[in-house]
Amino acid sequence: MNNKLIIAFLCFSLFGYSQKKASKKAVAIKAKSEFVADLMARMTLDEKIGQLNLPTSGDITTGAANSSNVAKNIEEGKVGGLFNIKSAEKIREVQKIAVEKSRLKIPLLFGMDVIHGYETTFPIPLGLSCTWDMKLIERSAQIAAQEASADGINWTFSPMVDISRDPRWGRISEGSGEDAFLGSQIAKAMVNGYQQDDLSKNNSILSCVKHFALYGASEAGRDYNTVDMSRIKMYNDYFPPYKAAVDAGAGSVMASFNEVDGIPATGNKWLMTEVLRNQWGFKGFVVTDYTGIPEMMAHGMGDLQTVSALALNAGIEMDMVGEGFLTTLKKSLAENKVTVEQIDNAVRLILNAKYDLGLFQDPYKYCDVKRAKSEIFTSSNRLEAREIASQSLVLLKNEKQFLPLKKSGTIAVIGPLADAKENMAGTWSVATNMDKSISLIAGIKEVAGSGANVLYAKGSNLDYDAAFEEKATMFGKTLHRDTRTSADLLAEALKIANQSDVILAALGESAEMSGESSSRTNLEIPQAQKDLLQALLKTGKPVVLVLFTGRPLVLVEENETVPAILNTWFAGSEAGSAIADVIFGNENPSGKLTTTFPRSVGQVPIYYSHKNTGRPLGNQEGKFEKFKSNYIDERNEPLYPFGFGLSYTTFDYSNLKISSDKMSFSGKVNVSVDVTNTGTFDGKEVVQLYIRDLVGSVTRPLKELKGFQKIALKKGEKKTVTFEISIEELKFYNSDLQFVAEAGQFEVYIGGSSNTDNKVGFELNK
Ligand code: BGC
Repeated sequence: MNNKLIIAFLCFSLFGYSQKKASKKAVAIKAKSEFVADLMARMTLDEKIGQLNLPTSGDITTGAANSSNVAKNIEEGKVGGLFNIKSAEKIREVQKIAVEKSRLKIPLLFGMDVIHGYETTFPIPLGLSCTWDMKLIERSAQIAAQEASADGINWTFSPMVDISRDPRWGRISEGSGEDAFLGSQIAKAMVNGYQQDDLSKNNSILSCVKHFALYGASEAGRDYNTVDMSRIKMYNDYFPPYKAAVDAGAGSVMASFNEVDGIPATGNKWLMTEVLRNQWGFKGFVVTDYTGIPEMMAHGMGDLQTVSALALNAGIEMDMVGEGFLTTLKKSLAENKVTVEQIDNAVRLILNAKYDLGLFQDPYKYCDVKRAKSEIFTSSNRLEAREIASQSLVLLKNEKQFLPLKKSGTIAVIGPLADAKENMAGTWSVATNMDKSISLIAGIKEVAGSGANVLYAKGSNLDYDAAFEEKATMFGKTLHRDTRTSADLLAEALKIANQSDVILAALGESAEMSGESSSRTNLEIPQAQKDLLQALLKTGKPVVLVLFTGRPLVLVEENETVPAILNTWFAGSEAGSAIADVIFGNENPSGKLTTTFPRSVGQVPIYYSHKNTGRPLGNQEGKFEKFKSNYIDERNEPLYPFGFGLSYTTFDYSNLKISSDKMSFSGKVNVSVDVTNTGTFDGKEVVQLYIRDLVGSVTRPLKELKGFQKIALKKGEKKTVTFEISIEELKFYNSDLQFVAEAGQFEVYIGGSSNTDNKVGFELNK
């Protein structure tokens, strides 16, 4: 028995088990492979298939667990895990059924979508990514794991690492944006945060990287839609974050709903076996997404028995909700459509995960009600969440240094998102207690203190269309639709606006306008709010747009008319306080965009690392040129590029240097730049390094992010930032899908956003 197990047993006894019982069990626990093999030798075929079944908690509520259908299935050994049940007490009750009533007493996995925090909720992942701070991101995942594990959860369906370059897709909010390099760093940080270096720790939980693969590239941005992509694009632009999560040791992978190369991911053997297992060496288990197996019937892949066998043959181990495995695998085995080895292999991987989590040593290790009471939504977790949230905000415009505001005078906070605590946590915040989130108005009052007079009016509903608002405020995320007329709402807002020195307009999307099944074709702020904003601007009072959104929006009109725009995403349970910290200058904004903000929905998909084409517009931006690659009705460039975000201070980049203009395949070059804080605030800057490979055997992007450093600079301070470039930063997948670097000329750019043209060059030689 190794040290980890000894520690596990010591903890085990502390948590209420008698020393005698623990040591008896300790003797029973063998090394993983032996333990799992012994257990499997005692399992019937039905019990094995049962382990592959992952139902939802369904009709289980406290006190009712024993009489539910799910409970009956657990008792009969037909369930491997359950998901989205909240509370250590309920989970303990359900676990008890598995370990006391089922024949082999195999504990269950308990999963949940803890994708940006548990009760202490962090910014939506897209917002979190804008911190560009891997330590903070890892810390957010660790706090999430700490809280979830204290409440019975041992498995999270996160990180969601789908690259997306299409803001029409609502689930862009759940990922880390458009870039493979940044996405990979974040994937790794999240896995490390959830699993730490040891899954058997009480506060580590199993991660599940999703949605494998390419889910973010659904056609027309419509959720669940077809994906059609070249393999070279998959390998270069979309696969890296999944691979990074696998390399970081993610214990499980979730299949995506979409098809890949004409075969649904759930039944795609090339994807699940060749890429994931053979090429990347993944050792954990793969779970389908919700009803992913039966959905293959609608994809046109056959009946339930056929698609279930297809999934197992492809390399899927666990069936979420679909019950295709549970109801058809036995028949498929009898008809030689699947093999017993395939079933055994799947069972083994799931039991391995349970073993790694320490569930065989102590099935109740995550169900300590005392921990649940003392470790969840604590003031220290909330303080960290507030700090992280403030770092995720992106200042998009700040004319004449209008922000930060003074904590004095009369401040009008107007808009349907101003007093909307139910919406602050954003999408997929299953465990959040929405009632406890801090609204903008509450945060402004708290941070402004007694020196300022804070007034509030709703001003408008989310949209004129009540039916639209209903779709956009599901799952309890109400905006309390006001039944007054639009004219009455506006009149009240204007009255307050006219009494004030400054207006904070809290506008944008509601939380459920992004996320799953919330695709949009129109990327503007809803019309009722646009009208409100223009009316507020007409008062002549200074207006700050405090924007809420789960995706890049089209903000051309707002950018032209509003002096200051602070994009706050959905910043989590502490949103209001974090936003107020930034508005009043307690925190200097340092977030940088991780997705391009288009000027028009017609530019989508839009991303910074595009190719040049044979007819580039070059430096003619803004001028139309016939027979060049451009539009007759819009510019090519976005409104706000990837990597962009303002600060209350300014940063100057100078003295860009490269250690040599030649590099060999085994060599390295250093690129350095001096960054000076030239403004009047201390601040943080994300220094970004991009590389362009000028000539290749395949066409190469105009720029690719290959490094970044977030640095803090006091006002007036200068720092030299150095990046090392080795062959790794120059490699890409060629048309044979080999990961290679090719000799030739490279350009290196360093700056504060992707549109920097501050560059040096070097040549790579064999
Ligand atoms: C989503 C997944 C999620 C699962 C379980 C599905 O609808 O696509 O991201 O993990 O539900 O809640």
